[in-house]
Amino acid sequence: MKKRQLGAQGMQASVVAFGAWAIGGWKWGGTDAKASVLAVRSSLDAGVDLIDTAAVYGFGLSEQIVGEAINGRKREDIVLATKCGLRWDIETPTLHNKGPEHSIYRTLTDESIRWELQQSLKRLGTDYIDLYQTHWPDPETDMEAVVSTLESLKQEGLIRSWGLCNENSERLESAASFGQMATDQERYSLLDREQDDINLPLCQKYDIGFLCYSPIAQGLLTGKIDAKREFSSDDLRIGNPRFAPPVLEAIQAVLAPVKALARDKDVSTEQLVLAWTLTQPGVSHVLVGARDATQATSNAVAGSLDLNDDELSVIQQAADAWPGFARFA
Ligand SMILES: NC(=O)c1ccc[n+]([C@@H]2O[C@H](COP(=O)([O-])OP(=O)(O)OC[C@H]3O[C@@H](n4cnc5c(N)ncnc54)[C@H](OP(=O)(O)O)[C@@H]3O)[C@@H](O)[C@H]2O)c1
Repeated sequence: MKKRQLGAQGMQASVVAFGAWAIGGWKWGGTDAKASVLAVRSSLDAGVDLIDTAAVYGFGLSEQIVGEAINGRKREDIVLATKCGLRWDIETPTLHNKGPEHSIYRTLTDESIRWELQQSLKRLGTDYIDLYQTHWPDPETDMEAVVSTLESLKQEGLIRSWGLCNENSERLESAASFGQMATDQERYSLLDREQDDINLPLCQKYDIGFLCYSPIAQGLLTGKIDAKREFSSDDLRIGNPRFAPPVLEAIQAVLAPVKALARDKDVSTEQLVLAWTLTQPGVSHVLVGARDATQATSNAVAGSLDLNDDELSVIQQAADAWPGFARFA
């Protein structure tokens, strides 16, 4: 497993991370706690040491499952990343998401971040977080104040580094000017390359780690999802235009040469896609979700895969041939 630093301010971590959103169940059609614990442990056994979760994933359940999975493991061998800033227990001026079970509100005040951190530490069964990230921007709190809280938590030994998610370039530059920002986390995959011209160049300029979320486009880049796939009613992919039959067909067409290469190399399509993603300028790590041990172990393989120039060129051509989701809107 290859390792890279989480930006100039962060620590070394495996290039493939275990993304723990789906194992929280919420928006992913529920979860199987036993299979989820096994998924995390199998990922660690396969050389992954970076785990990315968030307080809001499953409303605490993802953090609890991760806590159970790492219980008994050497804490210093794990790079634990979680997130704050989305609350389902209070109301704030900024509604993030109205749901049947819980409505979610954004806030990044000092008091709220500190309270959330304590809850996350309890659920994860640890006394520090390696990478603490703001989940979404809070328009009510100045970036300077947010960074000041995060820097204080670092001084107090409760977190080792901090980063942001879902930020625009202006706010990212502002955060980097106020403190020692380790990482930026944004959606990025072979099918979602908007950040090529936005945050990725900035992350290179300021030596900030870039963590790709949804790097296999929530399963689309496995090449295994077709119109016959049925999602349960509370799976975010049901009714999602990205999973409509004409889009699925277009993705299959774009992925055909990558699938052929995968067959030749005796690897999977998503392993090739992840390995290619890790070669993109500025990308430092991929955060891949997995529901079970088989997926987790397979995804970890991408972290040690070397691709030659011809192989990279096949995948690059597929990426360049993708017309973008907007074409199907
Ligand atoms: N900061 C943010 O706002 C934000 C937003 C989104 C995600 N994230 C982070 O990024 C992580 C990954 O993103 P994501 O979960 O949205 O999408 P993803 O990693 O692109 O896709 C994960 C899904 O793909 C399927 N899959 C994974 N490995 C597979 C394999 N080897 N074979 C077949 N299917 C496989 C699984 O779904 P099925 O088996 O159900 O098909 C899995 O839940 C999250 O867990 C989270 O840590 C952060």
